[in-house]
Amino acid sequence: MAEIAKQHWSAERYAKTAHFVPTLGAPVLELLAPKPGEHILDLGCGDGVLTEKIANAGATLVAVDAAPDMVAAAQARGLDARVVAGQDLNFDAVFDAVFSNAALHWMRPPEKVLTRVFRAVKPGGRFVAEMGGHNNTAAIMVALSAVLGRRGLDAHRLSPWYFPSAEAYGRKLEAAGFTIEEIHIVPRPTPLPAGLEAWLDTFAEDFLGGLSLSDRLAARAEVVELLRPVLMDESGTWIADYVRLRFRAFRLD
Ligand code: BEZ
Repeated sequence: MAEIAKQHWSAERYAKTAHFVPTLGAPVLELLAPKPGEHILDLGCGDGVLTEKIANAGATLVAVDAAPDMVAAAQARGLDARVVAGQDLNFDAVFDAVFSNAALHWMRPPEKVLTRVFRAVKPGGRFVAEMGGHNNTAAIMVALSAVLGRRGLDAHRLSPWYFPSAEAYGRKLEAAGFTIEEIHIVPRPTPLPAGLEAWLDTFAEDFLGGLSLSDRLAARAEVVELLRPVLMDESGTWIADYVRLRFRAFRLD
């Protein structure tokens, strides 16, 4: 019987296989539009690449992430980075803005995270974020589901991800007290420079990590072969079916 394995985060592995994540964060950074002197929280800062860009705009930053190795990498950039999960944020109306890129879909329950974010923002402040949206990595999810299903495992039960529609997440933002200025689903086919195997090793540990090493390698190979005709283009580049949910919302009172 496979055990439940938890995702673990290595800053070194992330820098090698997922450096496209902060690079592709440009649109949400533009939506944040940080101003000199603003006090901003980066929620789910990872290794701090985007946090540093926001700081370069003249804002002062606090960066938080639940993964100690990622926080250590962010601290090594000279950032004020702290090990805190989104569900455990404990700030009271201190930030002009809360920012998050490619992190909220790992944080559950979303209602608790949103309540904590709302509390952290000053009245008049904003919450600007991008996360996986409805149908994100749907082909990868179906392939994982098929391969784990053959082993008697339920990929949806193992999944750590939460990919809401704009309507569903909009309702949660409003229930937490936010007023939404904009919220959109944005399909963004995403080339995987290190390939699909490396992507699975970096991001899909909750699905495959509970298998024995030999079965994990076999299962990973099955996932790759199922997806090759769908996600590999004719030049041999893997392109994942990313779908972003991007929004800007305000705490008005
Ligand atoms: C994402 O950014 O959408 C994502 C990254 C890794 C796993 C799942 C989703």
